[in-house]
Amino acid sequence: MLEQDAIEPHGGTLVDLLATGPEADSLLAEAENLPKVKVGRRELSDLEMLTVGALSPLRGFQGEKDYRSIIQTMHLESGLPWTIPVTLSLDDEEVKRVGRSDAVVLLSPSGGSPIAVLQVEESFRRDREAEAQAVFGTTDTNHPGVRALEEAGDWLLAGPVRALRLPHHDSFARYRLSPGQTRQAFRDRGWRRVVGFQTRNPVHRAHEYIQKCALEIVDGLLLHPLVGATKQDDVPADVRMRCYEVLFESYYPQDRAMMSVFPAAMRYAGPKEAIWHAICRKNYGCTHFIVGRDHAGVGDYYGTYDAQRIFDEFDAEELGITPLFFEHSFYCHRCEGMASPKTCPHDDEHRVILSGTKVREMLRAGEKPPPEFSRPEVAEILIAAMRGQEG
Ligand code: ADX
Ligand code: MG
Repeated sequence: MLEQDAIEPHGGTLVDLLATGPEADSLLAEAENLPKVKVGRRELSDLEMLTVGALSPLRGFQGEKDYRSIIQTMHLESGLPWTIPVTLSLDDEEVKRVGRSDAVVLLSPSGGSPIAVLQVEESFRRDREAEAQAVFGTTDTNHPGVRALEEAGDWLLAGPVRALRLPHHDSFARYRLSPGQTRQAFRDRGWRRVVGFQTRNPVHRAHEYIQKCALEIVDGLLLHPLVGATKQDDVPADVRMRCYEVLFESYYPQDRAMMSVFPAAMRYAGPKEAIWHAICRKNYGCTHFIVGRDHAGVGDYYGTYDAQRIFDEFDAEELGITPLFFEHSFYCHRCEGMASPKTCPHDDEHRVILSGTKVREMLRAGEKPPPEFSRPEVAEILIAAMRGQEG
């Protein structure tokens, strides 16, 4: 057992917004008379992340000063690095309903019992264009993040939050560890140096390779798949989880690797999201974070290694967590192993490189990609899932 964590949360303190005991009782009573606001699915993910401290040092939805500061400087007003605003949007009708209330109750998108109470500090108009440009590097509404922004309300409601409960989930209960719990798990295992791996895709051999390369130089690996909202054509989280589970059981050392889920929604903000992903994983207790090719990218909005280069714009100390960069990895028949342009001198004809589109085509036709690309156990699950979708 270790006494002290190897890395501090962002800003120094792990936030916990869940009210308990008498505080929870009086909040619940207060909630009865407050205006109610249903949050969107993505905002619900953010609310959960705020509650468990994954977004430390944030204690609520962000106000205009932080919003502007993030957009202009990639830092909070306080000077801490932060690249993606965490906001709560309202449409005109909701703004009217909230009126001059000091506080509002937050409900899940489907209603139900109150999730949190937000003390209203301010409401302000979002700057759609500046936000899109700063976060996504584009205002093109074909970009899924820009589109989501386009569909969200015009107004942002800001202020500190106290949570009454966590959102209800039907799935992955045993993988839903809070930052406090992953930190405890690392301490229990005696891991000082832990590398975090973000993913929104099934884990193929290239992912496995970079995870294991990273694991060679640290004590433990946190496989931390994102399970919040993703775009329509991404593989759904439940299918991915089945892939991760078989892979994990058969190919990962149980005393050196653990799996837990990351409740965030995907932004597809490339470089800005890479920094944000790293900061969140630092809160979960990771000392290192993997950034490979086109991290959190979509289409061709970002350069292959933009999400690595952006780390140069931050002071290593203020970021705290150490990024580990990997080039585009593949299996090479001449090398007879996994490699990257950094380690393999051979031509493309020797390398097993398949586009996402090609892989989807193969799986849809019931065909397994070569074992050098995907573990057969993973391919089987993906094929079965695609059949199910069409059947
Ligand atoms: S995402 O969040 O970056 O969209 P994805 O599942 O596609 O998730 O990738 C997970 C991580 O693996 C990211 O850091 C990404 O850069 C990296 N990665 C994915 N494929 C490769 C590859 N072939 N070579 C190197 N890195 C990769
Ligand atoms: Mg990717």
